Amino acid sequence: MARTRRPLIAGNWKMNGLKADGLALAKDVAAGVKQAGWFDREVLVCPPATLVMAVAEAAKGSGLLVGGEDCHAKASGAHTGDVSAEMLRDAGASHVIVGHSERRTDHGETDATVRAKAEAAWRAGLLPIVCIGETLAEREADRTLTVLETQLKGSVPAGATAAKLVVAYEPVWAIGTGKTPTTPEVAAAHAHIRKVLGGLMGDAAAVRLLYGGSVKGGNAAELLAAGDVDGALIGGASLKADEFLAIAKAA
Ligand code: PGA
Repeated sequence: MARTRRPLIAGNWKMNGLKADGLALAKDVAAGVKQAGWFDREVLVCPPATLVMAVAEAAKGSGLLVGGEDCHAKASGAHTGDVSAEMLRDAGASHVIVGHSERRTDHGETDATVRAKAEAAWRAGLLPIVCIGETLAEREADRTLTVLETQLKGSVPAGATAAKLVVAYEPVWAIGTGKTPTTPEVAAAHAHIRKVLGGLMGDAAAVRLLYGGSVKGGNAAELLAAGDVDGALIGGASLKADEFLAIAKAA
């Protein structure tokens, strides 16, 4: 079954990148992806909204995919400062991250908000990457699997299929900290996620599950080899073309 799930290596630039350095990074990553000519994996970068259009332009013809970091649930309207899934699509995006823990924390996004955003992605023809993950307190209280289950049931819209959904498991305590779960812990979380998805959709066995949280060139091969891991969502290390490409190579 693993073979039917093409690994996805996704970079999340977060609030980083002005035009000059963002475009230089995009061009370097696009050149590396083009040169590698991978058919057995997908490589995606999600730049800040201001750069989606330019990065999509720079990625054209390289095979590098481009996504947004977040979207509003509505297609348009009086929502100052927000960006809709349709706008991302119009700018050249094919994917969008929804429910990242920084959105959940900084902007009070609930599972219901995340679910509405995933539905917006579908409406616009984008593939949503739905993020879930436990806090350190939840892990220490042995609540990890329960938390993941609640987040999945609340965040994954009805009607999900493997072609329309990617899930990223990102333990909040591992994001940007240099700490990662052990590979058995990652495998246990992913196995549970797939099991819960099995109750929500028909083809859960084919859904790609990404691991995210302090993935680097040096630990990517090990984390990506954990059971039920079909790729990675990478923050800090996606801001360096060489390191990001090394992670993609490890997939
Ligand atoms: P990190 O971020 O790789 O910097 O830990 C991951 C993420 O937030 O997606």
